[in-house]
Amino acid sequence: MALNNTALNNTALIQVRELVKEFDGQTVLSNINLDLVEGDVRVLMGASGSGKSTLLRCLNRLVEPTSGSIIFRGKEVLAPDVDVRELRKQIGFVFQQFALYSHLTVLDNVSLGLRKLHHMGKAEAKEKALQELSNFEMTAHQDKYPSQLSGGQKQRVAIARALAMDPAVLVLDEPTSALDPVMSRDVADLINRLHDDGITMLCVTHDLHLARNIADRVMFLDRGVIRADDRIDDLSKHSEPDIQAFFGNTSA
Ligand SMILES: Nc1ncnc2c1ncn2[C@@H]1O[C@H](COP(=O)(O)OP(=O)(O)O)[C@@H](O)[C@H]1O
Ligand SMILES: [Mg+2]
Repeated sequence: MALNNTALNNTALIQVRELVKEFDGQTVLSNINLDLVEGDVRVLMGASGSGKSTLLRCLNRLVEPTSGSIIFRGKEVLAPDVDVRELRKQIGFVFQQFALYSHLTVLDNVSLGLRKLHHMGKAEAKEKALQELSNFEMTAHQDKYPSQLSGGQKQRVAIARALAMDPAVLVLDEPTSALDPVMSRDVADLINRLHDDGITMLCVTHDLHLARNIADRVMFLDRGVIRADDRIDDLSKHSEPDIQAFFGNTSA
């Protein structure tokens, strides 16, 4: 994958600087700084309501930040003239509840973006979508509607749909929250497989098992502030009791 050589940091694919988001005068994210390096898997954890989804959504401007900077491949994402559709092609999103189109088949869910955003013809989009579905063993389900799929299958379709766009980074919001524990293990395997393939990922979760299985380090978001960015083993022995409690209650 070609890196964009700019005067900025030569390794970070995404640099978030002093990002602030307020909703109705309430600060949801305050002064967030984070780097996502090409090929890395980064995990962001935090209690419900701490601002995790809002932070992810700022990256591709599903949420408009109040202030701060997000540099993606050397360019300011928050600049007024940014092509948001182009940005969303490059920052692939897997939403918590998968956000599949219920009135479209599996195949059409995956090929729609290829047609609309990549302007592929029908045959080309179908070929690319089927190729992506086969990577996730979903070819046999191509003509089904989302309501006919299990949670794990829906999720694989959502991941296939995001990856079909050949994004520079895949962002996953709570990928195991809608799945049972057995399927949660499959998600860890899947993320590790994508990591081996060189896919850059940012994963939000409050599933400590998942975090341990996909990364050594975790960022801890607390009421809109990144309070720690450390190895999970160190966080479970952290000097601040609430951080220790968050990371210390599962050791498996
Ligand atoms: N569109 C919105 N309008 C107003 N408040 C919002 C909106 N989206 C999120 N919030 C608030 O921002 C805070 C963080 O939400 P969120 O980012 O969804 O947290 P998390 O994903 O960590 O559970 C919550 O208090 C939530 O109510
Ligand atoms: Mg959330």
